[in-house]
Formats: sequence, structure tokens, C-alpha cells
Amino acid sequence: MTNNSPPGPKGKLVTGNLDEFQVDPLKFLRHLRSKYGDFVKFRLGPFQNIYLINEPELIKEVLVTKHKSFVKSKDIQTLKTVLGDGLLTSEKDKHKTQRRLIQPSFTRSRIMGYGKDMIDTTSLYISSWKNGELRTISEDMMNLTLGIISKTMFSMDLKEGAQVIGGPMDTVMKQSIKRMRSLIKLPLWLPTPQNRKLKHAIQALDDVLYEIINKRKQEQEDTYEDLLSVLMKAKDSGENIGMSDIQLRDELMTIFLAGHETTANALTWTFYLLSRHPNVEKKFNQEIDTVLGSNPLAPEHYKDLTYTQCIVWESLRLYPPAYVIGRQVETDVQIGNYQLRKGEMVLMSQYVAHRNETYFAEPDSFIPERFEDGLMKSLPTYAFFPFGGGPRVCIGNHFSLMETVLVLACIGQKYQLILSDDALLHPLPLITLRPKGGLKMFVKER
Ligand code: HEM
Repeated sequence: MTNNSPPGPKGKLVTGNLDEFQVDPLKFLRHLRSKYGDFVKFRLGPFQNIYLINEPELIKEVLVTKHKSFVKSKDIQTLKTVLGDGLLTSEKDKHKTQRRLIQPSFTRSRIMGYGKDMIDTTSLYISSWKNGELRTISEDMMNLTLGIISKTMFSMDLKEGAQVIGGPMDTVMKQSIKRMRSLIKLPLWLPTPQNRKLKHAIQALDDVLYEIINKRKQEQEDTYEDLLSVLMKAKDSGENIGMSDIQLRDELMTIFLAGHETTANALTWTFYLLSRHPNVEKKFNQEIDTVLGSNPLAPEHYKDLTYTQCIVWESLRLYPPAYVIGRQVETDVQIGNYQLRKGEMVLMSQYVAHRNETYFAEPDSFIPERFEDGLMKSLPTYAFFPFGGGPRVCIGNHFSLMETVLVLACIGQKYQLILSDDALLHPLPLITLRPKGGLKMFVKER
């Protein structure tokens, strides 16, 4: 062990590197890796030491082997205001128990059952699209994934989901981002206009969720096969105890929030990349035509859409919707050659790691073929980690991969999406990695 500090920029006396970080976090983090290497130390304030870790083996130490020495970062803890103590925000034993309870709802076989909902919702959503029209695809993908999660979770149809949940959810997300971005987080009980808006939106969403839970409880017979039904029946195998209403509310809110914006962004980036790479788009269309023929898309087609799966991996590599994972050191711990102290922060950025030229030739180019020949097996585990890893790995990873592939194929069978101009789209790192200014595309029948 060494007591040396990792290399890194000196920064300003009080604010450290806050200015550069705020102007362009992705550029700043990438610059840190290229200038200082695998383990970088910097500050975003007078006392807050932050380490950016870029080497797969070291990332594994934080996420897997030594995960017990860390808790989630303060940013995620801010989300507790909205999410309560659900899977994303809970810690330690509470998290372990909940994860054990919920995991069976997300196994591969169960998720296959949601495939039909994914396809039906997409078909219905695009049925109103008109040949030649210009659409804001980033908004469409947000509406669509909200529709899909409403359907798979509550058996709500597209219209009902958008009306009942879409509005308050949108406000909650917008206000949460504002709250996470503000340096001084005023307690929610202070009646500032922002706080009031957020509180009202949370209340509206709570009312909806509790109403759904109560209605479901009063039904004589549960004939549903949606996520809500599975979660309501889930019992801890050891103690045979299910979830309380509050816990159920927290988990529903978490899955809703964690599950739709991320996938919407993955889809938006993928349509953007496809349109900019006609050779890839051509192979994508050929695969759809070969696998589907003139048949309508079905969940079983998922496994055969292998090139489309590679397109999704490559899109998640270049524009990972979760572009950074943060952890706070809870007990002093050694990572690699360095000793980290309680209270310090660790960042691991998928955006930075996925563009590491050691593991990905031409790291900034979109080449889905790189995933075709078993790349995933030959890479060190944490060279590519769009869904995180260890005990906190994304519970919705199979769900979202299937959703992304099925939505792409469902739209791709009928339409080609064409960029409205040649301008490059820049990533905007909020809670997730969104395209700055949204994405507008023309819809053309194939
Ligand atoms: C492309 C889409 C998605 C991406 C990139 C993504 C990414 C991630 C990442 C990186 C984490 C780990 C965060 C950390 O360790 O701090 C995570 C956790 C989580 N994700 Fe996802 N996710 C996606 C889709 C989904 C979907 C569709 C759902 C639910 C249906 C979901 C539910 C969750 C939950 C509940 C957690 C917390 C798990 C835990 O801590 O036990 N995600 N996700």
C-alpha cells in the first residue's frame, strides 16, 4: 500500500474544478482520464475529494469485491425525496431484502411475458404516425417507454398511462433534476416555489399509486399478470413476509422512474446513430426483413435479431444513458494502490470507460460489428458496464434490452426515421444522458 495521492488537477483553492465540471462534465471527465490515467483525484469544492476510476479491475473492486465499504452517492440520496426507500436508494440489509423479493419478477423467462405488451404498445403508438411527417422522436420515445412501463406494470393502456401518470411524472422528473443540480438543496419543507411544485407533483403521483394499489387489493380475484400483481404477491422465502403499502409505493415509483427515461434515451440515441450510418441501417433493415418476413413482430423474434442486439450494445457504449456511477466511501478502504477515506467520493464513468482505446478500437466510431464476434466475453468485465455491476446491478437490464430491440424492430419494420438536419447531436448529462435540444426526425414509410 502507498500513502501517495493519485495524480490529478490542482484546481482552484476553494472550488477546485467545479467550473470546468459544470460547463461540460463529459469533456472534463474524459480529459482527466487522458491526462492523468486510471486513477485520478480532483475536488469540486473545498473539502470534497473525488476519485475518478477508469480501469476495469479497479471498478470491479468498488462495485463488487469491496462494495461493502461504499454507499450510494449524495446525488442518488437526493432522489429519496421522490423514490423513498426503494431499490435504487436503499442501503445494506434493507436493500438486500428488497432485492431478493423483487429479483424473481425480472428473470429472463418472466420478461418474455412482457414482450407482447411491449410490441402491442409500440404498434398502437405508431399507428397514428403519418408518412412524411416531422416528429420529435426524443419525446415519442419518452411517451412510448412510459406507455410500456404503465402497461407492463399496471395493465394500463397507453392513453390511461399518459393521462394518469404522465403529467405528474414529468413534473417530478423536471423538478428533481433542478434539485439535484442546485448546489444548495433547501429542505423540502421550506415553501419555496420549486419545493411546492415538487411536493405537489409527488403528492399527485402518490395519490395515483395508492389508488391503484388499493383498487387491486379490493379485487376478489387477481387475474392480472403484470408487475404490480407479481410484486404484491412477492414474499420473502425465509420469513414469508410481503411488502407494506409504503414499500410497494416506493418500489413502484423507483421502477417507473429508473425504467423509462433510461430506455427512452437508449432508443433515441440508437435512431440517431442509425440515421447517420446508412450502411448499418441497411443491415438493420435486412435483418428485420429476413427474421420477420411478412409476419408481425413477436417476442420470440428477439433472440434472432442478433445484429439489432449488437446495434443496441454499440449505442449503449457510445451514449450510455447512465453515464456515471457514484459512490461515497463509508469505511476507509484500499482501492488499487490508494487508501480512500470515509466521506470521499468515487466516480466511475461509463461514458469515459466505454471510449477507452485500449479495449475499443476507433472508440468514437459507431461499429456494431465489434460486438458480433464474442467481444463481450473477451473484454475485462468492467470495460463495458452500461448497467453497472455487483449487488446493485440494474435489475431491469434484460427488460430494457428486450424492450429496446423490440421497439426498434417494430418501428423499423414499418418506417425509416430520417434526421431533419445534419447537425451533430450533443449529449446533455442530466440524471441520464439526453440528446441536447431533443431529436427531430422525418418518418418515412418503408
Ligand atoms: C437502457 C436502459 C437502462 C440503463 C442504461 C440502466 C442503468 C442502470 C444502472 C447503471 C444502474 C446501477 C446504478 C448504481 O449502481 O448506482 C441501474 C440500477 C437500477 N435500474 Fe436500471 N437501467 C436501465 C433500464 C432499467 C429498467 C427498464 C428498469 C426497470 C424496469 C430499471 C430499474 C433499475 C433499478 C430498480 C435499479 C436499482 C437496482 C439496485 O440497486 O438493486 N432500469 N440501472
